[in-house]
Formats: sequence, structure tokens, C-alpha cells
Amino acid sequence: MPFTANRQFKKAPRMFVAAKDMHYTTADGRQVLDGTAGLWCCNAGHARPRIVEAIANQAAELDYAPAFQMGHPKAFELANRLVDLTPDGLDHVLFTNSGSESVETALKVALAYHKVKGEGSRTRLIGRERGYHGVNFGGISVGGIVTNRKMFGTLLTGVDHMPHTHNLAKNAFSRGLPPHGADLADELERIVTLHDASTIAAVIVEPVAGSTGVLIPPAGYLQRLREITKKHGILLIFDEVITGYGRLGTPFGADYFGVVPDIMVTAKGLTNGVIPMGAVMVSADIHDTFMQGPEHLIEFFHGYTYSGNPVASAAGLATLETYKEEGLLTRGADLAPKWEEALHSLKGLPHVIDVRNIGLVGAIELQPIDGQPTKRAFSAFLKAFEQGLLIRTTGDIIALSPPLIISESQIDEIVTKLAGILKTLD
Ligand SMILES: Cc1ncc(COP(=O)(O)O)c(C=O)c1O
Repeated sequence: MPFTANRQFKKAPRMFVAAKDMHYTTADGRQVLDGTAGLWCCNAGHARPRIVEAIANQAAELDYAPAFQMGHPKAFELANRLVDLTPDGLDHVLFTNSGSESVETALKVALAYHKVKGEGSRTRLIGRERGYHGVNFGGISVGGIVTNRKMFGTLLTGVDHMPHTHNLAKNAFSRGLPPHGADLADELERIVTLHDASTIAAVIVEPVAGSTGVLIPPAGYLQRLREITKKHGILLIFDEVITGYGRLGTPFGADYFGVVPDIMVTAKGLTNGVIPMGAVMVSADIHDTFMQGPEHLIEFFHGYTYSGNPVASAAGLATLETYKEEGLLTRGADLAPKWEEALHSLKGLPHVIDVRNIGLVGAIELQPIDGQPTKRAFSAFLKAFEQGLLIRTTGDIIALSPPLIISESQIDEIVTKLAGILKTLD
């Protein structure tokens, strides 16, 4: 099983057999409140009729069309809808089937863009410590989670990392953006000084680092990164696989921070998690740079059998329609004050060393058990599941990211259950 303690799972399987709106149903018939939108992806909740219907209809009408040298209308319709939704300056879309594939696609676009422009010496990719960019080789190379990297050889060469921004000594229990640490963006200047800008293709960061345990950028940090990348002709890639599609209370993290990257990486919420699909948005400058040479030639040698798959495209369109109809891409902003108050009420409970929040994302960081990192949070995860609540843990951090349809009383339910669990942890 993916990212699972396989032997532990086999001894006591946790199986879901159905889902509706905010709840899963377990194999033994219990209801579990979804505190994580599946895996940060079911932003509109579960089994939404419009999406279910669109998938069924599309499968009956046009199940598959070859992705290479052929097209079908829904992929173009979805691309146009996405261009309308993304910040001005992101004007073209490449479809993939996952966040990991979106990351690889973005990195390849960045390298190829410089090459086509005649700046082929720009081959270096810069990521960040504790970054998560999926599990393929490019993604784990620019990523910064040691467990995801250490087993897999030398990875991509020519990669460097900026420091992460997590600083409990200065920023613990911040509400929203932590006040300290914008200057960490200046580490990029140091890296540029070390390698020279002429060797650097792109910088990739998650606007809010999710999978590593919700690291919220210090106020001003992303703006500074944008300034530095622009100054040196380095492409800025935002990996919005988690922050995209309403998670922060804005359509994208780029909107929340008022920072437009050159390339945006998305997946998950694009289809509400129902059908695998990702989308990479690029600027007109990047797109246009490739559009040269004889017209019968392929401009960019990249793509997947299922890029823009008709059923996935239909799911994407129905998902965006559902988000629009129900105002879900901004609902997180309305709920954020309530969410913040509720989460921060956990301050002071046993083992809690930090609570942090932004939009409809939250994290509760626990003091690890001496010599047994991850055990305390995993035990909280198991207890929560027994008590009808789905949470997610990485290391000793509990991460929360409920569907954007959550009610205020369900927020209270999450926090009440968690408070009870925290009091009983070893
Ligand atoms: C920021 C980020 N990038 C990439 C990925 C990888 O996405 P996938 O699991 O769909 O390959 C994830 C998954 O959680 C993610 O959070």
C-alpha cells in the first residue's frame, strides 16, 4: 500500500466502503467525519451528484480519445475555464494525471524553455528543505523530505535547496502568516551567488508546504522570492497541488499571496479527487517561446496517454461548476476565523507545541515521544479513526484540511474529538 505501515494495516485494516458529503462509511458501518478532504483533494465533499453524473455521461458518450495529435472538446473547455480562474498571466494549460506528473511536467517545461530561448546553461533546479513535490525523480530531487529521498540513489544532479521556514522558537502558535522569517527568501540570493543565475532554470516551492506538516510562509516571504527570481531571470514554480482550488479561501495560493508564478502545478481538487487528473498552467511567454520552427513538428516532446482524458475532463468541468455554484473557492475565507478560533482552543493541551492555520488548513504539532518519533501522532490518528474522525499525520504533526463544505458545528466536532484524544495520549 502507498505510504502505509503495511504490516500494521494488515493486522487491523481500516476500510472505507462508501462516502457522502462530509462523511465516510467504514466496512463495519460506522460514519467517519472527513477532516482531511480525503487526501487534501475532495474539496467539494463526497459523491457530489453533478460530478457523478458528468462522469457517467462522458464515459457513455466518448470514453477515450488519443491524447497525441488528436483532441476532444471537453479538454479545451476545461483548459479555458482554468485560464479564466487562474491569476492573469497564466494563460496555457498542460494536462497530467497526478500531482507528481504535474511536477515533472513543470520542471521539464522550465528546462526546455530556457533551452529553446538559447539559455541552455540554465539547468539547475532549486527546491526547498521539507518541500513535497510528489514521488517521481524530479519531485523527490527538488523535494526536501529525507525519508522520501534517502533510498533512491543520487537523484537528479544539479539541484540545490533553500532552507525551510519552520521556526517554532519564534513563530509557535501564530495565527495565519508567521511574522518572522521573510528574510529566509534571501537564501536564494546566496544560492545565486554560489552557482550564478546563468545556471539556474527554476525555483519550485509550495506556497504553503502541506505534506511535510503545514508550514505556512512567513509574511512577505513569497513576495521576496518573486522579486529575486524575476531579477535573475529564474522561473518561479508554485506547486499548488494542495493550495489550489479553494483550500486557502481563494481560488489559488497565488491569489491569497498576491504573487503570480511563471508556472503553476495543480492536481487533487481539480476533479475533486474523483478521477486522477492534474493541470500545469504556464505563462503566455513560456507557451509562445515554444511556438516556433516548422509547423508540422511537435514543439514539446512530453505528454501522457491520459493527458486530458475525456472522463477526467468532464469530472474537472463538473467540479469547477460545483465550486462556482456553491461559492466553494472562497468559502474557506468565510470559515477561516471560526476555524482559527477552534484550532487554537487546543493550545495548552498535553503535548501540543504548536497550532497553526491558514484558510481551511490547520496543524497541531505534538512533542514527539523520546526516541520514538511519529508514534504519538500515529496513535492520535488511530484513536481518531476509532472515534469517527479522519485526520492525517506526518511526523508528529496532525494536519487538517476538511472539505470546503464543512459546517461550523462539524468544525466544533473535529476540535472536541481532538481535544479528548490529546488528553488520552501517552
Ligand atoms: C504539493 C504537492 N505536490 C505534489 C504532490 C503529489 O501528488 P500525487 O500524489 O497526486 O502524485 C502532492 C501530494 O500530496 C503535494 O501535496
